[in-house]
Amino acid sequence: MKVSRFSKLTKSAKIEWLIDNHFGGSEKARKTLVSYWHSDDKLQQIHDEFIENTLTNFYVPYGIAPNFLINGKNYTVPMVIEESSVVAAAAKSANFWFDKGGFKATVKNTIKIGHVHFTWDGGQFDLLKNFITSINQRFYSETQSITANMQKRGGGILVIDLKDKTLDIPNYYQLEVKFETCDSMGANFINSCLEKLAEVLKYEVKSSLLSPNEVEIVMCILSNYTPECIVRVDVNCPIEEMVEGTDISAQKFAERFALAVQIAETQPYRAVTHNKGIMNGIDSVILATGNDFRAVEASAHAYASRNGKYSSLTHAHIEDGVFNFSIELPLALGTVGGITRLHPMVKFSHQLMGNPSAEELMMITATVGLAQNFSALRSLTTTGIQQGHMKMHLLNILNQLEATEVEKKTIVNYFINNTPHHAEVVDVFRRVRGGEVLNQKRN
Ligand code: MEV
Repeated sequence: MKVSRFSKLTKSAKIEWLIDNHFGGSEKARKTLVSYWHSDDKLQQIHDEFIENTLTNFYVPYGIAPNFLINGKNYTVPMVIEESSVVAAAAKSANFWFDKGGFKATVKNTIKIGHVHFTWDGGQFDLLKNFITSINQRFYSETQSITANMQKRGGGILVIDLKDKTLDIPNYYQLEVKFETCDSMGANFINSCLEKLAEVLKYEVKSSLLSPNEVEIVMCILSNYTPECIVRVDVNCPIEEMVEGTDISAQKFAERFALAVQIAETQPYRAVTHNKGIMNGIDSVILATGNDFRAVEASAHAYASRNGKYSSLTHAHIEDGVFNFSIELPLALGTVGGITRLHPMVKFSHQLMGNPSAEELMMITATVGLAQNFSALRSLTTTGIQQGHMKMHLLNILNQLEATEVEKKTIVNYFINNTPHHAEVVDVFRRVRGGEVLNQKRN
């Protein structure tokens, strides 16, 4: 049966409804929800008010990766992620590059874009173009009340351009607007400006020569595709320093690594997994710093396809005996606004990194993406991914089996030189539970 006016119910009433209708009145289910409430009512209320219909909180681990040397500054980076191995991989990579001069990062540009999407049935593009040019100053003056503060910080509306899109859709045009939003991600600012610009457009058309041809505003919205908000990070070292720790030579490792990147550059099936690994690192920093990972994901993948074929976000080459590895991607991030000052753990993350500017955060985040990819490819091209992965996963399996601390220690020690698979862990767990004494497993 449809529930009406659900959002108007109190939190307790919502929980009652949920437990009765979906959990058969189970007290255990109710207790699970309530056990995740914060003990501080005020803090809980902050979380309740982030979204609608909040019932409880959902924990995701918060870890850190130290030793990220970026442009000569040493960062400890917060990472929020549920997947085992990701934080360990980032930290391992940070360590590797720390001794080789660290990561060199640059922000290439920081422009964001939004559109007023509209139709006009007047037909002549030149007429519309001249009209838009004639009211250009009105666009700026009428948005002053919204842009004044941003202008004080060095940002605001940069350019307003008319785009003829009638080849795609009859009568369809865009006002394409470029923005500088300084340390904020800028979504609210951009959308407010666009809605005001649409109002101005509609009003001005009424009293112009274009009338009675109607302008119809379809929608006003920022684009999460930000190909002019780009950050780049590089690492390099002489090939002989590409010492990996297994029995592969530095030369062979560097060559195989570069080939693995080339495969991701040319093969979309591999590129998707390759970039997913990069986003493991990027998303976890984005979550820890209260940014919008869906926006960043959408933009990154569109950028990865910008040449008409989905490809790698990282690149590698060997030149004059030097191994070079880099990443370039769009990252529209903010260090003010949104939940950055509201969520205590987000605030904590920013403090941990010395309250970076948005540009600094772009560089840190992209670096973690590059580091993540380095670790993934390092494992994939040498030992294989499962060795490290399953070791980290081992604890998850043992926790699922409700192993005691002593049992965990025994079983982790048993698999110290091996790559355990799920079934094998379960089997060994049963034997340990049954009282069997284990020696360390031989390779
Ligand atoms: C797993 O989450 C990510 C990797 O598959 C990335 C990659 O294959 O490069 C290990």
